[in-house]
Amino acid sequence: MFFKLGNEDRNSKARAGIITTEHGIIETPIFMPVGTIGSVKSVHQRELKEDIQAQIILGNTYHLYLRPGTNILYKAGGLHKFINWDRPILTDSGGFQVFSLSQTRSKIQEEGVKFKSHIDGSYHFFTPEKSMEIQRFIGGDIFMAFDECTPYPCDYSYAKKSLSITHQWLQRCCKWCNENPELYGYKQHLFPIVQGSTFDDLRKISAEFISSVNADGNAIGGLSVGEPEEEMYRITELVTDILPKDKPRYLMGVGTPWNILESISLGIDMMDCVMPTRNARNGMLFTWNGVINIKNKKWAEDFSELDSKGTSFVDHDYTKAYLRHLFSVNEFLGKQIASIHNLSFYLDLVKTARKHIINGDFYTWKKSIIPTLKTRL
Ligand code: GUN
Repeated sequence: MFFKLGNEDRNSKARAGIITTEHGIIETPIFMPVGTIGSVKSVHQRELKEDIQAQIILGNTYHLYLRPGTNILYKAGGLHKFINWDRPILTDSGGFQVFSLSQTRSKIQEEGVKFKSHIDGSYHFFTPEKSMEIQRFIGGDIFMAFDECTPYPCDYSYAKKSLSITHQWLQRCCKWCNENPELYGYKQHLFPIVQGSTFDDLRKISAEFISSVNADGNAIGGLSVGEPEEEMYRITELVTDILPKDKPRYLMGVGTPWNILESISLGIDMMDCVMPTRNARNGMLFTWNGVINIKNKKWAEDFSELDSKGTSFVDHDYTKAYLRHLFSVNEFLGKQIASIHNLSFYLDLVKTARKHIINGDFYTWKKSIIPTLKTRL
């Protein structure tokens, strides 16, 4: 069985479950570190496994197609072998990056999307079939349908037309996958993506259509793209009310520690975001006591350990003053320490949320902890 639903919280829609893939199990709710181009930026695979305890990481079709390309990935035996990561991998379809990274405004047609590489300006054309083919070469345990992530704000007529194309693309993705088996001898699970911008009726139509495909898991896209947080929660709740309960639900591109807990409360099982690594590289640390800007002068002579409640070795081996110094002289090690810290914190956050779901006190715990998580230290 791909997903086994376990405990459900009485006072919210939070749930604990287990996803089983051929590269290992994933205990949900889970946060998935982003390894866009074959590396989670500035973190070793060994640290990801042993210190951070990541259970699954993300890869990206758009980036891996441009570099190193499917030829090299295939010769390596797939992404797991290429990067020496034997736990589960999820790949995004390229639908989001084609729109956000392409050098010119990508042209969406029913057939597919033409885009200009952000690396060398060359032109490429992605179709749903092409995205599936690239994701077969990459060999992620979970792979995503090709979609359009609508921008925010988005007018109703554009969102409606885009949704209809995303749904047609899903049918083409399913057809291609049925006709083209996996390349590396293990199963890849296709997740379709609910779109529909911030329009309730479109989201409802999309959630019903996506559910009817009966995939092993379902995703919610097009959120955390600039809309107010309340809108994001409202749409998430509307969609999780419709998506099947017995399949994992993945909220794409979310978010801050408090967004993660609120999403879990709304019935989300999987999340990913560049925030813990990207913000770490800019000196922002997330902790159980609140948010630290380590570049701030106030830490210059603070010789207390980086994070007394932290689960990673960096939290206890280094002081705040030392990390502030590394940032002020722009040493690589500063970015490395901060990234390991933030990812360890995110994984500890979801692990603790899971414990509270199992103990039956998730809702009250979440409510009490969020104001502290938001505190600026
Ligand atoms: N990552 C964050 N949001 C999205 C989305 O809507 N679609 C895809 N494919 N990836 C995403």
